[in-house]
Amino acid sequence: MNSAIIGGSGFQGLIPANAEKVCVSTEYGDATLWEEKVNENSIFYLLRHEKGHTVPPHLINYRANITALKKVGVTQIIGLYGVGSITSMVIPGNLGLIDQFIDLTNNRISTFYDTLNEPFEHTPMVFPYSRRLRVLLANKAKELRIPLSLKGTYVCTNGPRLETPAEITMYRRLGADYVGMTAATETILANELHIEFAGLVYSMNWAAGLDAEGISFIEKEITEKAVDQLTLLAKETLS
Ligand code: HPA
Repeated sequence: MNSAIIGGSGFQGLIPANAEKVCVSTEYGDATLWEEKVNENSIFYLLRHEKGHTVPPHLINYRANITALKKVGVTQIIGLYGVGSITSMVIPGNLGLIDQFIDLTNNRISTFYDTLNEPFEHTPMVFPYSRRLRVLLANKAKELRIPLSLKGTYVCTNGPRLETPAEITMYRRLGADYVGMTAATETILANELHIEFAGLVYSMNWAAGLDAEGISFIEKEITEKAVDQLTLLAKETLS
């Protein structure tokens, strides 16, 4: 079974030294993947903001990325995300699994069904994150002694700007635990292509207005530790 890990902000070091670059062309454009052979299978790595963190959230070619992973035979994906905390479900520096999202984006195409006169599906979103993968991740976190919140609701904003405190107050009232700019889009597209998907977050900050400074980010060493733990957890689960 081929797998994939998609890394976001902070995951510039995600690609293992032994992985080989694979360029995949799709009807939506090209995607760059890195392939690591593990036993009989492969883990494909993808940096959604590209090397050097140069592609903002609303300009990521999500459809090319997910289509490319489908084309190389990926059947399960773990997405890794930096987020801002809205509740104490996952506080800055800590890690968690996503179990629900609220999609507030309107500046990107979040479906493969965008043509007339073609068959389409109303893809169910009751369980947008694979229950099987979530159990595997929870068990692996326990085994590795990595503290992990087992649920949380991710609100996905347009970006690239951060939020106002008034928006964060509204998102909290809507039931969101943390905020980011990419997870809902990847989750929807993977589900449309029937690829099992799980999302792991680490919190980089209290969301706007929730700390004394207005907004401030965790220190470099704490970021590195969280990123290393999430990467290890994803890899060990898929290997
Ligand atoms: N808002 C949106 N996205 C984010 C944040 C935030 O505060 N922190 C990390 N990604």
